[in-house]
Amino acid sequence: MNAATRLGFIGVGLMGRPMALRLLDAGHRLTAWNRTHDKLVPLLARGAVAAASPAEVARAAEVVMICVTDQRAVEQVLFGPDGVAAGGSPGKLVVDFSSIAPAAARDCAARLEAGCGMGLVDAPVSGGVPGAEKGTLAIMAGGRAEHVDRVRPLVASLSQHFTRMGESGAGQATKLCNQVIVGSLLPVLAEAVRLAEAAGVEAAMLPEALRGGWADSIPLQVFAPRMAARAWDPPLGAADTMLKDLDNALALARERGIELPMLRDAAQRYRLLSERGLGGQDPAALIGLLDRD
Ligand SMILES: NC(=O)c1ccc[n+]([C@@H]2O[C@H](COP(=O)([O-])OP(=O)(O)OC[C@H]3O[C@@H](n4cnc5c(N)ncnc54)[C@H](OP(=O)(O)O)[C@@H]3O)[C@@H](O)[C@H]2O)c1
Repeated sequence: MNAATRLGFIGVGLMGRPMALRLLDAGHRLTAWNRTHDKLVPLLARGAVAAASPAEVARAAEVVMICVTDQRAVEQVLFGPDGVAAGGSPGKLVVDFSSIAPAAARDCAARLEAGCGMGLVDAPVSGGVPGAEKGTLAIMAGGRAEHVDRVRPLVASLSQHFTRMGESGAGQATKLCNQVIVGSLLPVLAEAVRLAEAAGVEAAMLPEALRGGWADSIPLQVFAPRMAARAWDPPLGAADTMLKDLDNALALARERGIELPMLRDAAQRYRLLSERGLGGQDPAALIGLLDRD
């Protein structure tokens, strides 16, 4: 099962669009749906077929990939009117690239199987828009081993690191660990940029100066220049999308009776942005919280 597999794609936002384009470039036949139809245009120009609903995607495809904002959106595309469950049938699979809570992923997998017999692999991604464009995403998967094995060759054009972490929900739990690291790092990067400016050194040169040292990272290389320039168009994501993940991680920690004090503090920085009406902006906007008015 490879390029001959009929794929579906639901949710072609910042991440979903470059992922779907890479699947088309790899030779897959793709049926796609997006709530806002216009965003499908670049895919249709490259040979994708538009569906009228998520149910129609599920009827046309053997494997339906999803990349939407949050668990509410995932539930809507799976179980809403004309959702995937209404068009799915046994033997077909959903691969959910969205980042949602592990318990929500387990619940969706159980409901989908009971409702239409489809399997679900939770497969959240890390690497941002640049990783989606280059096909270098890290994908952490949860679900039955035979389902994950079916998905592996299909995502080869998206990722060289596709790791099964356990049963349903394990991919999402791993993504939350990823977000503990990335979500805490971005406010810290903003502080480093601010200190460079206050110390009179060129903040825009930090990525080059620190390249290869222990402080180097992809977020440093991608976000520090945006922060130093106070310029983040086009956006690579939204602060509120990160906050959703950090709140899911904090809720999981509470549920398991552990403390994550660094993460709690980091989450407060994104919450502050959100309260100021800036939650839709790129996370590089965190630098603004450190600027004098
Ligand atoms: N951006 C990143 O750097 C990044 C990195 C790794 C993982 N992620 C994760 O990837 C997922 C997508 O993120 P993104 O940055 O691509 O977000 P985005 O650009 O805002 O795209 C979100 C997508 O979800 C769709 N959607 C939202 N609510 C919906 C609903 N109720 N019903 C149907 N469709 C709905 C949107 O449709 P419309 O076009 O109609 O709005 C759009 O296609 C999120 O779970 C995010 O946490 C993001």
